[in-house]
Amino acid sequence: MIVKILRSDGNVKKTFNYEITNIEKRTTILEVLDYIKNYLDTSLSYRSQCRASICGTCAVKVNGKPVLACKTKALDLAENNTLQIEPVDNMAIIKDLVVDQDEYLNKLKKAKAWLEPKDNFEKVYPEDLSLFEKETDCILCGICYSVCPAFQNDKNFGGPINFVKIFRFWKDKNDALGDIRIEIAKENNITSCIHCKYCTFSCPKEIPVESDIMQIEFFGKQKGIIQSQDNFGFNFGF
Ligand code: FES
Repeated sequence: MIVKILRSDGNVKKTFNYEITNIEKRTTILEVLDYIKNYLDTSLSYRSQCRASICGTCAVKVNGKPVLACKTKALDLAENNTLQIEPVDNMAIIKDLVVDQDEYLNKLKKAKAWLEPKDNFEKVYPEDLSLFEKETDCILCGICYSVCPAFQNDKNFGGPINFVKIFRFWKDKNDALGDIRIEIAKENNITSCIHCKYCTFSCPKEIPVESDIMQIEFFGKQKGIIQSQDNFGFNFGF
């Protein structure tokens, strides 16, 4: 198999080709990168830690599709016996496949992406957990952020990842902020979402990201927290 990797020093980009003959059915993209790094080219840079779809560090684009390298089988995405591996979009490249995640991690601070605990914790039952259980799967991999076209119109848009976190804590009855979370969503420009659903289709944890955004916006507009004249996805040709 030919593995083409778009490499960069942060300025100049160049595609490097590597030939690998020992790819098996179970071989992951991360194992392909490890093989190249260990046996063909030690200068290749990429991120990984857990190798188990938990840490969210290994996102890359393979044949145009953003994926977790440790979760994705090479043969599942190969086309004409070729893999084209590139860094994910919407983030500055530091080197090769390593991108700068600071932008979206800093935006998470603005979104207060943590539990603000109530003074008296209430017992959580399965039906309470079911309201936000899927959103607790978010591993902050940034894939939803990388595919989001809304940044083209609004650089200050919080991004899908922010609104997954806002939704998760808004639905948690032990979070003290309650509907203040909706105001936070407004401050993070939730109405710049164009509802293309790329985030939902790309999420490796199958979180219904766009639906979460829709629910926050709908509730905010019903309560008059978000004004209905704000954009609702119709300024982008959708
Ligand atoms: S290495 Fe941790 S998610 Fe892939």
